Amino acid sequence: MRYPEEVIEEVRMRSDIVDVISGYVKLQKKGSNYFGLCPFHNEKSPSFSVSPGKQMYYCFGCGAGGNAITFVMEYENYTFTEALKYLADRAGITLPEQEYSKEARAREEQKKTLLAINKLAANYFYYQLKQPQGRAGYEYLRNRQLSDDTIRHFGLGFANKVSDDLYRYLKSKGYEDSILKETGLVTVEERGGRDKFWNRVMFPIMDVNNRVIGFGGRVMGDGTPKYLNSPETRLFDKSRNLFGLNYARTSREKYILICEGYMDVISMHQAGFTNAVASLGTAFTSQHGVLLKRYTDQVLLTYDSDEAGVKAALRAIPILKEAGMSVKVLDMKPYKDPDEFMKQLGPEAFRERIAQAKNSFLFEIQVLRSQYAMDDPEQKTRFYQETARRLLDFPEALERDNYIQAVSREHGIPYEDLRRLVNQLGSRLAPGSRPAQPAAKGEGERRIGERKDKEEGTRQSQRLLLTWLIENPGLFQKTEGIISADDFIEPLYHRVAEMVFESHSKGKVNPAAILNHFINDEEEYREVAMLFHASLKESLSNEEQKKAFLETVVKVKKNRLDRDSRQARDIGELQRIIKEQAALRSLNISLD
Ligand code: CTP
Ligand code: MN
Repeated sequence: MRYPEEVIEEVRMRSDIVDVISGYVKLQKKGSNYFGLCPFHNEKSPSFSVSPGKQMYYCFGCGAGGNAITFVMEYENYTFTEALKYLADRAGITLPEQEYSKEARAREEQKKTLLAINKLAANYFYYQLKQPQGRAGYEYLRNRQLSDDTIRHFGLGFANKVSDDLYRYLKSKGYEDSILKETGLVTVEERGGRDKFWNRVMFPIMDVNNRVIGFGGRVMGDGTPKYLNSPETRLFDKSRNLFGLNYARTSREKYILICEGYMDVISMHQAGFTNAVASLGTAFTSQHGVLLKRYTDQVLLTYDSDEAGVKAALRAIPILKEAGMSVKVLDMKPYKDPDEFMKQLGPEAFRERIAQAKNSFLFEIQVLRSQYAMDDPEQKTRFYQETARRLLDFPEALERDNYIQAVSREHGIPYEDLRRLVNQLGSRLAPGSRPAQPAAKGEGERRIGERKDKEEGTRQSQRLLLTWLIENPGLFQKTEGIISADDFIEPLYHRVAEMVFESHSKGKVNPAAILNHFINDEEEYREVAMLFHASLKESLSNEEQKKAFLETVVKVKKNRLDRDSRQARDIGELQRIIKEQAALRSLNISLD
């Protein structure tokens, strides 16, 4: 689904950002910007800024940022197309009919049909639950203490004992075998169609836009498999969907609860914790992480308290952290999962557990400790050493020290001793003084860590430099002949830089317009929006900042030349690069 870029840009230009946002947030003018209370997180003093010059908004509290279109997307939970239609309407612009390629149209059509069939099936299951033949299912759910409201809210249903009634129902609605096969709801063989789900209570799985994309079905007793799920289809990708997220995304809580099962999510929602989600019978993936990061940067894991649950938590923690979230872990003991906990102790006790949730690093150390026999001096020492090694993973001294304090408190290790151990280990592993012996355990990981830090460093200097250029257009001239769009080697920044340099050469850099090019990819868009906003803080008023600017230019240039020299194909090219590298050492830019 694509509108021509000119159309999108026209809608954006005719939707003044201050005007659009004023419809939702009370704004006050301060200097050249407007400020108000951020609609995307809870706050008491305004850190949400709107810049009429840039036609963009940014929240210094939670980092939300973007242009008029993305504001409407976020605030109204609209897709891009919906937001565009809304703003076009508001501005009195008629959008052109969409142009599709033939294949794209066929794909779109098929998806629509599959969604329609899923919706029909969900309604069918729901209807069955309330019929005499659905009594077993209804009683099962009621016995599990779900209210009628909850059953309706989640659209729970029943697949009865007849083995092909859903198939026949869908056929009667005019759907062909060929499309029905694609739904994963039925199988079609020579003998005829068969329903996949049979004598089970049904949980429809919805995407973030409340569309049914698949089902989970539970046996009403001890049969196997306990849960049967829709296979992956055109609509249903397990690693990209989270059960309950369609509701959790609109919850007012800052954090999201992640649990293991359908029933856990439903119990928590019923008890008022509408910010709970579950991954669907699969391990938590990095795509899940990216998906969640759109809605929150804090998660609480409420996995089962058995060994499998602990393992799942240990696997999910690094994925969530990598996606940029802070993670805590809830203790459900002595109960197995949130569903049981809620039944036994109720919401108040659950709220207390949330307040006591453990920082994920401390949780990892606690699990680690359980693997050592602490009454044996040798094992105890090993536990300390491994703990120290993990503490070294915090690159920031201050942060590391906070964790050293917390671990020493929690595990009764004298603070000074633990700190010394960490420092000793740190100097032993520091580059330059590395022993020639076989690498200590964990060193490989450390090297990877170092490489990642370096990559992040390169990205950061490119980001910073772009930011400076956007904010201080005078710098284009000052760095002319030194810096060009090609010096930004990170692919995303390169694309932005090309647009920034081009629009500068044509007159004026227009951040909100450039951002529009990235609107179809949520991750990219977020990063670009950040790029245009970081600048609000970066000025070049004093000597230190001027020095920092020069250093950044050198870093960006050096990284580019390093890369070029790695890719150089002939000696002439290499000589040119070496010359440039030498010139870089005596580079000076006057900023006055
Ligand atoms: N699951 C699955 N297939 C199975 C078993 C489990 O897909 N054969 C998934 C389901 O999404 C389930 C989750 O894993 O909700 C957690 O499984 P489990 O802890 O066994 O079930 P509970 O959530 O406790 O379910 P119930 O309370 O209904 O027993
Ligand atoms: Mn359970």
